[in-house]
Amino acid sequence: MKKVLIDCDPGIDDALALALAAGSRDALDVVGITTVGGNVDLPLTTTNALALREFLDLGDVPVTPGSAGALLRHTVRAADVHGATGLGSVVLPAPVRGPSEGHAVDFIVDTLRAAPGEITLVAVGPLTNLALAVRKEPRVAEWARDLVIMGGSYTRGNHSPAAEFNMLADPEAAAIVFDAGWTVKMLGLDVTLSAVATSSVLDRMRPLGRLAELLVPGVQSYKAVTVDGGPAIHDACAVAYVLDPSLFACVPAAVDVETAGLYTRGMTVTNFVVGERRANALVATSLDVRRFWDLVVGAYEGLAARLG
Ligand code: BDR
Ligand code: CA
Repeated sequence: MKKVLIDCDPGIDDALALALAAGSRDALDVVGITTVGGNVDLPLTTTNALALREFLDLGDVPVTPGSAGALLRHTVRAADVHGATGLGSVVLPAPVRGPSEGHAVDFIVDTLRAAPGEITLVAVGPLTNLALAVRKEPRVAEWARDLVIMGGSYTRGNHSPAAEFNMLADPEAAAIVFDAGWTVKMLGLDVTLSAVATSSVLDRMRPLGRLAELLVPGVQSYKAVTVDGGPAIHDACAVAYVLDPSLFACVPAAVDVETAGLYTRGMTVTNFVVGERRANALVATSLDVRRFWDLVVGAYEGLAARLG
């Protein structure tokens, strides 16, 4: 059983990533969900996380809100991709229970301190909370069992030609996180753009009862459409990596985050020829798409049977 703490900004693909975690409870123990302003504002990402906790039957997993905006610069949002609420045309029952007291940064520090070497951080939004956590307590980078992010790219951007959204939304935070001493497992656009919910994948989600009320309108209203004819479910790749790293080919690299460039701000400059430098990242370079969807849909089927 792997323990995971998920930092997210739901977000349609964040919701589908949380559903994958919820459907994998034989393999994953979700010890906490923290939220960050990202795709939409923090009050919405937090409300969505709370609604998802109840809808996905995640029990009493604490949901703790964190940073509302980027460390230094203006706010970047993606409501054009995820809709005004962050969940497209999905309508979930309003959450009955509220968030935990306190701030995500303290929750991350305290939770990792209490279980050094045990908890994998999974970050699928801007890295603001994680950057503040390692600034507050640098030993977070030692205490984490692993850090897996959906973010960055060594080939292309999506929110700008050079930058992926989670990096562009807070490049200074991303630079701090890549510099913190751990080896970041980077699931970037290079692989996540192949995690496409095609019409045949969508057909596998339609019979899933109550869970389909999240999955189907989520996929249909998610504007992250690719040339392959469906949206890329980026964030599910990070959870899938924790469940089965063999789905991905990965290469060590030294990654720097561009914070200044007029055209390249938020770019993850990826050096595969590490030389004298320490490789601060293990960068995913390919995904076994068929096995990925078998894993994801299999977890959704198990969850759907529980939810009815
Ligand atoms: C990432 O940006 C967000 O819009 C998605 O939720 C995902 O985390 C993809 O670039
Ligand atoms: Ca996200």
